[in-house]
Amino acid sequence: MIYNPEFNLSSLISELIKVFSNHNYKQLEERLKKFAEGNHVISPNKEMIRKDSIPNLEYSLENIKGEMVSFYDDIVKLSEYVSWCKASRGVPEFFEGGYSSSVVIGDSGLVSSTNIRMGFYLQNQNIDYPPHAHEAEEFYLILSGIGSWQISNIWYDAIPGKIFHHQPGVSHRMITKSEPLFAIWIWTGLIEGRYWFVGHEEIDCPGIL
Ligand SMILES: [Fe+2]
Repeated sequence: MIYNPEFNLSSLISELIKVFSNHNYKQLEERLKKFAEGNHVISPNKEMIRKDSIPNLEYSLENIKGEMVSFYDDIVKLSEYVSWCKASRGVPEFFEGGYSSSVVIGDSGLVSSTNIRMGFYLQNQNIDYPPHAHEAEEFYLILSGIGSWQISNIWYDAIPGKIFHHQPGVSHRMITKSEPLFAIWIWTGLIEGRYWFVGHEEIDCPGIL
């Protein structure tokens, strides 16, 4: 059978619509439905990054279990096709990095969109992604692994199935210990807006995530 990333993307979006609908995120549900109704062309001219060069990716994919298992097939297939990067914000004085990300929907992704970005996020073990914020509205859906998640001054357990919603400008921080953390991220609203680390609000750090 010929591999068809378009099929896996449609299937992934359908699963996301179900999950966000179940958690009553109506506005995001509508935006995802609108995206799903559009005509999208999968862009084939991507530089392929070998997914086995991404730390913890194979492990994190194999750990998509339980209530998140409905995402497993689509994500495993899409993870072969998207471009991965070992990311940092390029500001080592604020944060050296320690995570990998990929874009599925967005300028460097498989399909482009002007009002939504979506991709995968993998934070390595023993990383403290310090408090930061951005003008875009953001959602994370945890797929596997475990961590601690701070939004403003409230801490949460990051476990599979958990959704984190960051309103524009609200600070958030993610900490991993012995396990990596793997998630889907979605940006809506001002996706071209500013990004800053808390305490360094005057410095815009453009990039993805
Ligand atoms: Fe964020």
